[in-house]
Amino acid sequence: MPVNASETAWWRDAVVYQVYPRSFADGTGDGVGDLPGLLARLPYLAALGVDAIWLSPWYRSPMADAGYDVADYRDIDPLFGTLSDATALVEAAHESGLRVIVDIVPNHCSDQHPWFRAALAAGPGSPERALFHFRPGLGPDGAQPPNDWPSSFGGCAWERVTEPDGTPGEWYLHLFSEAQPDFNWDRPEVRGEFESVLRFWLDRGVDGFRIDVANLLIKQEGLPARASLPPDAPSPYEDRPEVHEIYRAWRRIADSYPGGRIFVGELWVGRESLRRYLRPDELHTGFNFPYLQAPWQAEQLRAIIDGTLETHATVGAPATWVLGNHDVTRVVTRYGRVESSWALDGVRVHNAPVDLELGARRARAAALLYLALPGCAYVYQGEELGLWEVEDLPPELRQDPTLRQSGGADLGRDGCRVPLPWEADAPGFGFGPDEGAAPWLPQPPAWKTRAADVQDGDPESMLELYRAALRLRKTEDSLRGSDLTWLESADQVLFFGRGEEFACVVNFGPEPVPLPAHDAVLVSSAPIADGLLAADTAVWLRRRAAE
Ligand code: NOJ
Repeated sequence: MPVNASETAWWRDAVVYQVYPRSFADGTGDGVGDLPGLLARLPYLAALGVDAIWLSPWYRSPMADAGYDVADYRDIDPLFGTLSDATALVEAAHESGLRVIVDIVPNHCSDQHPWFRAALAAGPGSPERALFHFRPGLGPDGAQPPNDWPSSFGGCAWERVTEPDGTPGEWYLHLFSEAQPDFNWDRPEVRGEFESVLRFWLDRGVDGFRIDVANLLIKQEGLPARASLPPDAPSPYEDRPEVHEIYRAWRRIADSYPGGRIFVGELWVGRESLRRYLRPDELHTGFNFPYLQAPWQAEQLRAIIDGTLETHATVGAPATWVLGNHDVTRVVTRYGRVESSWALDGVRVHNAPVDLELGARRARAAALLYLALPGCAYVYQGEELGLWEVEDLPPELRQDPTLRQSGGADLGRDGCRVPLPWEADAPGFGFGPDEGAAPWLPQPPAWKTRAADVQDGDPESMLELYRAALRLRKTEDSLRGSDLTWLESADQVLFFGRGEEFACVVNFGPEPVPLPAHDAVLVSSAPIADGLLAADTAVWLRRRAAE
């Protein structure tokens, strides 16, 4: 059924599927996923039962950071297709009942963006340079970076340029790779440009935007060194209060379009801050990263669920629930580790011992847990197939700039970006046409058992579990509201009701526990025997009336 444009509140309880375009499906046979590939697989997504897709960047880009380095915000990269492929995709998605959210990357662009090239050419003090953060270096010959800010990818956040006359010159700020110069959001030209870019895509029918690093746009006046600030001072480049004006202006633009156009912010901020971004005149939703970061542990997850719901209730925004994305270790691998957080003390965990069978069992239970919570849920491509992190990629094939920039300390994010397996018996597991090039990253041979076609119709598969849960999310009225009531349960068990009739029980402990009284089992992540819920298993129940 086509999208119903009169359902303007669709986003309050939507399930959004993240498409990482280069790894979803290759329609042209060059080994890289693209829009024709995605178009051909839309029926799969519609049948999965999701409400919307979010596409990681599809814009023209030199791909220094897999498209998060944009050279033209109004065009599609030839690797993925053309602008008319994009508009055809939006139309076809709408016809299939899927809304389309696109990534917008406002903090930085590519060093190949015409504005940055013009800034390099124009030289110090020029209005072109004022659109970025250029500064002279420190020290007698300016050879030291202007301050001590670090890049998120490792190393320093400044790069020195060679001036048009060939001399070593100013430095520019890049909170990510040096191929991603940060815009200066104090300049009205930058604000005007992004408002125009939003309209460009809204005019082409997109239903919303995922805002890349939404909390980083504004930098503290004077770009003070961190070392010069008191230890408890707020960060000079994160979560600055002036950023909210930007989103208020964006919200007014989205609201001027029909059909419920929305924003979801990538916001690595604490709960109190998150609340501010989600005020009724700002962003509709923001990613709930504490949930994604938490280990597989009942008490911690319960505390996060409570905190999340309380925080969101104060501003009337729906919560979002996320198990993975293109930046973090896949959930099967995370939950298969003794210490199941994806990063410890801010450092990504690589190649720690993992029990993939345990991880898969927990990921199945985790799917039923997060899909039963009130609000929106995000599914990162391949989660519905039970894919794990590919940790043994040869270093020379890895492409994430993090590897180089961290000096090898962080292997990077390629392991969660490996192309999807569609057909067990086709070359490249059917990622592209049979006669096409091999997928851009090699898939583990063991993914044969994870291919979509072998899972299709197998009632024990992850794919069928997701399909069943997503079907029930649509038919169970109790899952629609914003309520959640904790019910009494044993230690290491989460048991909550939604509405009068629905309950979810998850056993995190090592021993089976008796199922609470119920009228029917709607779906379970593992077989239920003798009325017992086994370890690392979740179940959705029809509650007994008058309980
Ligand atoms: C967050 C994106 O999710 C990540 O993939 C990217 O590298 C950085 N922002 C920089 O744009």
